[in-house]
Amino acid sequence: MGLTKQYLRYAASAVFGVIGSQKANICYVTLRGGERGRYVAVAACEHVFIWDVRKGEKVLILQGQKHEVTFLCPSPDGVHVAVGYEDGAVRIFSLLNGETSVSFNGHKSAVSVIRYDALGARLVTGSKDTDVIVWDVINESGLYRLKGHKDVITQTLFLKDKNLLVTCSKDSFVKWWDLDTQHCFKTIVGHRSEVWGLVLLNRENRLLTGSADSELRAWDISYLEEVKAEGEPKEKKGKTLLDDDEDQQEDEDESLDERILSCKKAGSILREARDRVVSLTTDSKARIIACHGNDSILELFTVLSEDEVQKKMSKKLKKAKKKAAKLQEEAGEEAAEPAVEKMLKDEIVRLINVKASAKIRCVDCLSCAGGELKVALLLQNNTVETYSLRTADKTPTANKTSRLTLGGHRTDVRTLAFSSDNLAVLSASGDTVKVWNRSTLQVIRTMACEYALCSLFVPGDRQIILGTKSGKLQMFELASGSLLETVDAHNGALWSLCLAPDQRGIVSGSADKTVKFWEFELIKDQETGQKRLTLKHTRTLQLEEDVLCVRFSPDHRLLAVSLLDCTVKVFYTDTLKFFLSLYGHKLPVLCLDISHDNTLIATGSADRNVKIWGLDFGDCHRSMFAHDDSVMFLQFVPKTHLFFTAGKDKKIKQWDADKFEHIQTLEGHHREVWCLAISPNGDHLVSSSHDKSLRLWERTREPIILEEEREMEREAEFEESMAKGDMPVVPGETQGEAAPAGKKTIETVKA
Ligand SMILES: *[C@@H]1O[C@H](CO)[C@@H](O)[C@H](O)[C@H]1NC(C)=O
Ligand SMILES: *[C@@H]1O[C@H](CO)[C@@H](O)[C@H](O)[C@H]1NC(C)=O
Ligand SMILES: *[C@@H]1O[C@H](CO)[C@@H](O)[C@H](O)[C@H]1NC(C)=O
Ligand SMILES: *[C@@H]1O[C@H](CO)[C@@H](O)[C@H](O)[C@H]1NC(C)=O
Ligand SMILES: *[C@@H]1O[C@H](CO)[C@@H](O)[C@H](O)[C@H]1NC(C)=O
Repeated sequence: MGLTKQYLRYAASAVFGVIGSQKANICYVTLRGGERGRYVAVAACEHVFIWDVRKGEKVLILQGQKHEVTFLCPSPDGVHVAVGYEDGAVRIFSLLNGETSVSFNGHKSAVSVIRYDALGARLVTGSKDTDVIVWDVINESGLYRLKGHKDVITQTLFLKDKNLLVTCSKDSFVKWWDLDTQHCFKTIVGHRSEVWGLVLLNRENRLLTGSADSELRAWDISYLEEVKAEGEPKEKKGKTLLDDDEDQQEDEDESLDERILSCKKAGSILREARDRVVSLTTDSKARIIACHGNDSILELFTVLSEDEVQKKMSKKLKKAKKKAAKLQEEAGEEAAEPAVEKMLKDEIVRLINVKASAKIRCVDCLSCAGGELKVALLLQNNTVETYSLRTADKTPTANKTSRLTLGGHRTDVRTLAFSSDNLAVLSASGDTVKVWNRSTLQVIRTMACEYALCSLFVPGDRQIILGTKSGKLQMFELASGSLLETVDAHNGALWSLCLAPDQRGIVSGSADKTVKFWEFELIKDQETGQKRLTLKHTRTLQLEEDVLCVRFSPDHRLLAVSLLDCTVKVFYTDTLKFFLSLYGHKLPVLCLDISHDNTLIATGSADRNVKIWGLDFGDCHRSMFAHDDSVMFLQFVPKTHLFFTAGKDKKIKQWDADKFEHIQTLEGHHREVWCLAISPNGDHLVSSSHDKSLRLWERTREPIILEEEREMEREAEFEESMAKGDMPVVPGETQGEAAPAGKKTIETVKA
């Protein structure tokens, strides 16, 4: 070993496997004048992916930085998308080139909603920090911060022709704001629980709110100033309701203190779902309402125009008159002129329910030419589905028009493997195994499998083997994409597989307290008469405890077995005689690996530590605190004494097993990292996480100086704590003072 060891940086190279993240919404966007309803934008962790739903292809990536995307909103002209992030930042991207030029920093925590005004000149954002901020898009500055809500803001809408804003929140209130004075002039208190969404209908004379129950509450809005200015009698304005005199009186009174508008409960529409509203939205003309809870049913309603309602009412009246006349005839006496009352259900009519193939996370809808409604659904199982229906049909049917599933797994990926030629990557989840082209990240094969826990490529890279939760070994052939064989290998979860160094077989370790040895064998297939690969069980090693991980030493002499009792036992491969026991971890060892030269064994445990041991005597060279949660995976970089670990703390770290140094941390995943695979040449690393993303990392030529690396980490930590503790400034908030909106950075603090 030389005097100075050079460490090379691994850099993030791609995020894949995620179709749509659950933290943000889905929205239709237009791309370079393309056809409407063809492209949708969804969050993919810190990025935004634009998918062409027709072709099922990713056509544009709006690159994020570190924090997850929490909300998306396209601009009215369709040229931009405003993106809100977990840290409260908002960036505006151009859909022409995918680049961002404007960014707004005013919120202290996740952006929960973003809306443009009708002209696209102003943006309103709501946040988990309970503030609402109005931004000037053209001047790229903050206008006002509106404080008043006491919990997460769930919706904010500009009114079209008035300088007003309506907002709702988990604090159970709906608030109306006058943007001329930046004051809340009215609070609607009729909800007993969180308000999860609101929409404006009927030229903004009707408000509909969604809450924690199955009621969609409807409110009548009358704009009082307008009425006075026009000098018209009120009856003409209040066309949505046949007010009786008493209500009229109340309105008059209210207008004295409120002057701007009155808002009265008009009734409610019942949803079929019993749980809370998860999203409530309309198409751009507010003719269709789409609503869903935490299940797979989307409920659609049609909002009838005033003319349509009038027509309906006169029909009703005619009917009633006829009936009255008939009664009169029968009774032979005078009957009163019948009265028909206009009801909410005459105005908002149930259209159809759409059943998606999994629970819905979010919906967007788009009215297109010819009365076609397009619906895009982001599902909770990493899928996007689109539907189309003709709303004018008497009994419309919703046809599924596309489904994006290919580029990702429905459930978490629990195992990854690299092919021996470094060119293909295997990922397997609860129901499918995929093989990806490492350079293009295109899916080469997708095959149904049982719940997979471990995997490997058979030498030659023509077959793969999975170990499953139910104790089976499944072998697939890549050329045909078919399952060759399922072997009932164990009576418990098959946690670990390892290829024999002589490449002639594998070993499997299971929760049934056994380790089994298998040899590859070519047999003649009964049906086809052709030779095919199979696995022959040769030996069994019985243990006292569940087996969590098994690894051969590269010289094939030893087999290390980690057990549920927190020890690792090492056996001679040939005789299966006990050789060593490694004691010391306080919780079970979930992962381990042996260095290429058979000298070191590194173990990672649920106790958050990594231990490095000599394989000659089983002496512990060093124990290092590695992650803030369980160490899930550990692997040496081939032909080195450097190794990587993956933690439930979302981090991936690289270590030097000779100098006991932490070299670098690969940050990027937003949830627990489950597993890793390092390419045989050491140039690539792929990781999988509970955030549904797979990430590819690449070894660069850039050397790492450890002191500088530590300094950078300290700075990053400091910056994070500053950002948290600091109240960002929005101009307009401090009257007359035009302080720039922005966060304190380490530069400004140092200065
Ligand atoms: C931009 O700011 C200037 C000066 O503060 C102001 O006069 C102008 O009206 C603003 N423009 C817009 C579109 O808000
Ligand atoms: C939806 O239901 C699942 C359980 O089925 C629960 O874990 C999740 O938190 C729920 N989501 C919402 C938004 O209520
Ligand atoms: C998840 O998505 C797929 C779409 O490929 C669908 O077939 C499946 O039924 C969905 N639902 C669940 C609950 O997994
Ligand atoms: C939906 O599919 C049916 C049957 O294939 C077809 O008749 C109908 O026109 C389709 N509807 C739409 C809106 O495409
Ligand atoms: C991956 O894609 C590249 C470029 O299309 C191609 O040359 C290569 O053969 C593919 N590799 C695999 C393993 O399919």
